[in-house]
Amino acid sequence: MPDCEVGEKKGVKRFMDIKISPSMLASNYARLEEELKKCENGGAELIHLDVMDGHFVPNISIGAPVIKAMKRVCNVPFDVHLMISNPYDYIEDFVDAGADIISFHTECDSDTEKTVDKIISLGCKASLAVKPNTPISEVYPYLDKLSMVLVMTVEPGFGGQSFMESTMPKIVELRAKCPDLDIQVDGGINNETVKIAGKAGANVFVAGSAVFNSENPEKAIITLKNNARV
Ligand code: DX5
Ligand code: ZN
Repeated sequence: MPDCEVGEKKGVKRFMDIKISPSMLASNYARLEEELKKCENGGAELIHLDVMDGHFVPNISIGAPVIKAMKRVCNVPFDVHLMISNPYDYIEDFVDAGADIISFHTECDSDTEKTVDKIISLGCKASLAVKPNTPISEVYPYLDKLSMVLVMTVEPGFGGQSFMESTMPKIVELRAKCPDLDIQVDGGINNETVKIAGKAGANVFVAGSAVFNSENPEKAIITLKNNARV
């Protein structure tokens, strides 16, 4: 659990582990096992799984059964991003499917506290996500229970969008408050924007297009990680 206030008062600035989390949304869904191997070989610390329900976002992706099948052929921890209206009702399914950390949105219809508590009670790590226009203070009441905060750097729903630099002040604010917290950015991350987000204080970087639209996904992961070290 992050000890935010103590870190802030002491003025401690500790080195944060850089983590790359390739988003499988941009991978070839007909060859998931091979795509996962590329992430493993590139040294990805996490695998990002985007779940969309066509209600919370205007797009539909994969659900728990596909994640469960992927889990059988991959040893890298699964970072599940729920872009669904009622995450509370599906937490058991995703924990059972093999999620190691679950992010859901403060803007969803479920009760935030109950959903965080349910994730943790099932032995999983909890993370809260905020859309670009949502104030970062929305996550503050839950910080002592969260393992990560996801600051969206595009409007959720689709891969391949442009990075919104206007979201960076939220990361600066959160990093100042929580020196030890994992802060994830998701959307439009490439070899240049990873530096901007890293400088602002993010340390967990989701990348879909930048990894899977490249000639060599393994190399793309390594390059992103090097560029993130600011
Ligand atoms: C968008 C998803 C992202 C998406 C990122 O709503 O949450 O994880 O896959 O894709 P890129 O890296 O292509 O912007
Ligand atoms: Zn995502």
